[in-house]
Amino acid sequence: MMHVVIAGGHGQVALLLGELLVERGHRVTGLIRSQDQTADLERVGVEAMLVDLESVSPADLAGAIEGADGVVFAAGGGPGSGAARKETVDYEAAIALVNACGTAGVDRYVMISAMGAANPPDHADPDDVYAVYLRAKAGADDALMTSGLDWTVVRPGRLTNEPGTGKITLGPSVEGGDIPRSDVAEVLVVCVTERSTVGEVFEVVSGDVPILEAIAAL
Ligand SMILES: NC(=O)c1ccc[n+]([C@@H]2O[C@H](COP(=O)([O-])OP(=O)(O)OC[C@H]3O[C@@H](n4cnc5c(N)ncnc54)[C@H](OP(=O)(O)O)[C@@H]3O)[C@@H](O)[C@H]2O)c1
Repeated sequence: MMHVVIAGGHGQVALLLGELLVERGHRVTGLIRSQDQTADLERVGVEAMLVDLESVSPADLAGAIEGADGVVFAAGGGPGSGAARKETVDYEAAIALVNACGTAGVDRYVMISAMGAANPPDHADPDDVYAVYLRAKAGADDALMTSGLDWTVVRPGRLTNEPGTGKITLGPSVEGGDIPRSDVAEVLVVCVTERSTVGEVFEVVSGDVPILEAIAAL
């Protein structure tokens, strides 16, 4: 049984991931920033902790994850957010969690990144929010991959709420496409509970290879 902390615990992928981990016997804590989201986490058996990733102190963030076996960064500024929140959430909060892992002695960190973060635009025009987003994701991924932690970076294509198929295409660089959030959650379960993806960075979209098989072939 593992204790997994999900940063951004009320996110759509985060709730699916939390539910799957709990079903498989793990303890899950979700870090959220609104008290009124607690019930949604508790409904799927996830413990809620109020931690605003943009304002928490380094010491308090380290305290929030202390004793965990692994963390998953599932937060994001969100589709409606502007460039500023790409910086404060997608970049800075993800790195704050890397630093907190170092302080708290938590070795395992799984990042939900994004397809395209491998080659972000060199100079992001602040009005091009998607470019700013990709640069933020790339910067956070780089910080994690050079942190010395046992990391995995998962870069999904466009997320949908279609039912999962359990089948994916996964690799260092794959052709762009969609993937249901529930399939991403299944991939993350394997990443965080098994050691096989430590030190791996990959893109993932829907495909025709069963998830376990695709990950084993990495
Ligand atoms: N959408 C796509 O097509 C796509 C593609 C590839 C990768 N991704 C990435 O995949 C990840 C998960 O996607 P998703 O659809 O599950 O995202 P989501 O539903 O937008 O969830 C993001 C969560 O982050 C939380 N959050 C934001 N700021 C926070 C803060 N300061 N403290 C604590 N929590 C905070 C939000 O909480 P609030 O409810 O309080 O705002 C929200 O629950 C994101 O990182 C996204 O960038 C998305």
